[in-house]
Amino acid sequence: MSTFDFDAPADRSGTHSVRWEKYAGRDVIPLWVADTDFHAPPAVVDALKRRLDQGVFGYTLAPPELRRLIVERMARLYHWAIEPDWVVFLPGVVSGLYMAANRLSDPGDHLISPAPVYYHLFRAAQHAPRDWTDVPMVLEGGRWVWDEARLAESARARSRLLMLCNPHNPGGTVFRRHELERIAAFSEKHNLTIVSDEIHCDLLLEEGLVHCPIASLSPAVSRRTVTLMAPSKTFNTAGIGLAFAIVEDPALREAFSFDLKKSVHDASLFAYEAAVAAYRDGDAWLAVQLEYLRGNRGLVEATVARLPGVETVHLEATYLSWIDCSGLGVADPHALFLEHGLGLSPGADFGAPQFVRLNFGTQRKVLAEAMKRFEKAVTSTQKT
Ligand SMILES: Cc1ncc(COP(=O)(O)O)c(C=O)c1O
Repeated sequence: MSTFDFDAPADRSGTHSVRWEKYAGRDVIPLWVADTDFHAPPAVVDALKRRLDQGVFGYTLAPPELRRLIVERMARLYHWAIEPDWVVFLPGVVSGLYMAANRLSDPGDHLISPAPVYYHLFRAAQHAPRDWTDVPMVLEGGRWVWDEARLAESARARSRLLMLCNPHNPGGTVFRRHELERIAAFSEKHNLTIVSDEIHCDLLLEEGLVHCPIASLSPAVSRRTVTLMAPSKTFNTAGIGLAFAIVEDPALREAFSFDLKKSVHDASLFAYEAAVAAYRDGDAWLAVQLEYLRGNRGLVEATVARLPGVETVHLEATYLSWIDCSGLGVADPHALFLEHGLGLSPGADFGAPQFVRLNFGTQRKVLAEAMKRFEKAVTSTQKT
């Protein structure tokens, strides 16, 4: 029997959890922002305790061991040979997205981004500010994929960056090698830098699928790519704060990070400790977590499948179900679920108001109650 118990209740009250504080004092199950209710791997907790006990918390370098572990992980899991000095540490992937939009394009340049997508991919363009084009994601064979005809039409003379989210959030698509090859070919044709947010790369739920970092396709693709990853989704350490960019090309790396110190703070020393422990000792925990999440996915998908007016695809990755509510005939599906005690992410945040995103990274018991509320909300729309 596994020593990791994902059914163990986690009381997050008093921890200022973003997810739980939003509806504090109300009978609302909050299944929105993307962290989970699971205790981090014991190896991570123990490493943090040890570092805490040492008691001196001054400025701290990124441990060389962390670079080594990342190099080793990329080779072992993704057959991707990288060098330690390609890694640039960041406090979060979001910082990396904004840095990329600002540093790797000039005013007047144009960005290309999928839609719907995790909102910071296009907000980074908005904020820079740069003009950008949304390329729609379309359903093909039960998977959300890029509309490649629209992608082909999206390039302009001043296009500089292509924003990719792989696995895709929302929708959970794990892009296949041949799909990535076509995106890479398009980027090559138009001389685009690829900014690839791969934060969900370790959360593949569909057995047999493998994550393919787009930069691993070939040395040429690698030289035009900034890959963003983090241990935070994988090991539920988002509140600790650490991510990294992998950038092979020295000029691109320099452009991406030349005023890093002025833009963002170093990752915290606790973040380094947690990341080393997670990557060195966390994979057995991760395997059990993935199995648990598969069970939760089954519960969500079975509930949605037997209800009228709602639909979802079979999620390949992430713990975020993307549910189409257009069959319910309500203007604001997020508000409907909230009235029934369920706090989901509004699809409008991602550019699709008729959808909601449901985070099933919680204890099965909590999820079962949430799905009862989900069902009540849906059936309430069927009454005349
Ligand atoms: C695709 C994607 N990128 C980035 C993030 C956040 O990254 P970080 O917390 O490292 O800034 C999330 C969190 O939900 C995400 O889904």
